[in-house]
Amino acid sequence: MNACARLRARAFAATYDRLNAAAERTVMGQRRAELLTAAHSVVVEIGTGTGANLPHYDAAQVQHLLLTEPDPYMRQRLERKIGDAVPRLREAAEVVDGSAEHIDLPDASADVVVSTLVLCSVGDAAVSAAEAVRVLKPGGQLLVLEHVGSESASVRRWQDRLTPIQRRVAGGCHLNRDTVMELRRAGLETGGVKRWELGGAFGRLMPIVEGAVRKPAV
Ligand SMILES: C[S@@+](CC[C@H](N)C(=O)[O-])C[C@H]1O[C@@H](n2cnc3c(N)ncnc32)[C@H](O)[C@@H]1O
Repeated sequence: MNACARLRARAFAATYDRLNAAAERTVMGQRRAELLTAAHSVVVEIGTGTGANLPHYDAAQVQHLLLTEPDPYMRQRLERKIGDAVPRLREAAEVVDGSAEHIDLPDASADVVVSTLVLCSVGDAAVSAAEAVRVLKPGGQLLVLEHVGSESASVRRWQDRLTPIQRRVAGGCHLNRDTVMELRRAGLETGGVKRWELGGAFGRLMPIVEGAVRKPAV
């Protein structure tokens, strides 16, 4: 990472929680909470960032929570937030420097993988989806809350135009990824995914997909 990229990464991590605070309070926090009711036993979260999901895990359901995050500035904030978590979650949590494309776990070892606002930013969404499938037990679930490419052609053109800027200012984030298609191609059952939008122009540029996608049982 060169000095300029390091500065951008540092600024992104430092402002992330503040920039998202209103959306978290009004909508996203509730969506995260509902999604994560399905997180249990051995859970891997990819691209954990500053730890926005931490308050929403049910500590009584989670035995091991592997929190992977490749960005050191995000990890610093994550470590601090773990310090504020309830003792049982603190004991279950382990933070590692790792990417979604390579999760340091054996095949079929996780009950649940969590990906919220991450597959837009990973270097390779197809490899990341395949890696989630690899580590999941048969019948295990990938819980997703991701913003994706629009189904509207005109909005999609705007997403394509704005993605180069978005990538620079928002940690490599793409506005235009076909994330559900990538998940389906990786072999996950995506029938239960819901699409919704936050209000306004910003919401149209960032339509959300949300739900549990399952690795087939056999
Ligand atoms: C928009 S933030 C989302 C953070 C958090 N998941 C949330 O819901 O608030 C995207 C995160 O993905 C991480 N990321 C970027 N590339 C990644 C990769 N290849 N593998 C895993 N995480 C990655 C970034 O460092 C950042 O923390």
